[in-house]
Amino acid sequence: MTEIATAPPATIAAEPLAHEELESFAPLYPMPRLELASGRGARVRDAAGREYLDFVSGIAVNALGHGVPGLARAVAKQMKQLVQCSNLFANRPAIELARALLEATGYQRAFFCNSGTEGVETALKFARARAGSLGLGGRDVVAFRGGFHGRTAFALSATWTPSYREPFEPLVPGVRFADYNDVAGLEAVLAPGVAAVVVEPVQGEGGGVPARREFLEALRARCTALQGALIFDEVQWC
Ligand SMILES: Cc1ncc(COP(=O)(O)O)c(C=O)c1O
Repeated sequence: MTEIATAPPATIAAEPLAHEELESFAPLYPMPRLELASGRGARVRDAAGREYLDFVSGIAVNALGHGVPGLARAVAKQMKQLVQCSNLFANRPAIELARALLEATGYQRAFFCNSGTEGVETALKFARARAGSLGLGGRDVVAFRGGFHGRTAFALSATWTPSYREPFEPLVPGVRFADYNDVAGLEAVLAPGVAAVVVEPVQGEGGGVPARREFLEALRARCTALQGALIFDEVQWC
């Protein structure tokens, strides 16, 4: 985030958040001593009233920005009607969202979950189950160096950064890594027995690296030949 108004209004405390106040959180992220209090569009304010441009945007997922009136109204309206009824029951907003997604993508079914990692986890599980139901020989998964897919067990198993994975090993077996954008290397790694390939069309954690068109086309062709699932993880760039 970039601070765009350094002088806080005189009436508001300018002290940064005390270290002790951050001690309630598990120390997984190096949190700055900054308490965000409100936002409007692409701008956020801290508790001391300083304004910042929000380039983080919820790690590239808060596409609508902060304080969007229509969104706030829709959420408040729904909360007054029906809050949560699990995936076991249908409800009108879920039906309409599923239809809109299918129309936009051409897919046949939607599955709703709560986070990116669950989305990838589920896609990988669907892919293995699908390989079983098609009678394919193997259950292998191919992922790519530099890729990030989340922190639940299967998604983490397909995530490249060793320091994220290693503390939790043994993870889900049968995942191997190939070089991103290396078309020539695909032939060797995408062999019979591959149930799924998971790839970010633009690697996020990996540094904002786009896949080359011919790489994605080669993946599509090879997965089709092997009858394996090709999973696009677009969580960060949705
Ligand atoms: C490409 C990609 N996939 C999956 C995830 C996991 O998403 P979530 O943090 O919502 O579980 C992320 C999170 O940054 C991501 O960038």
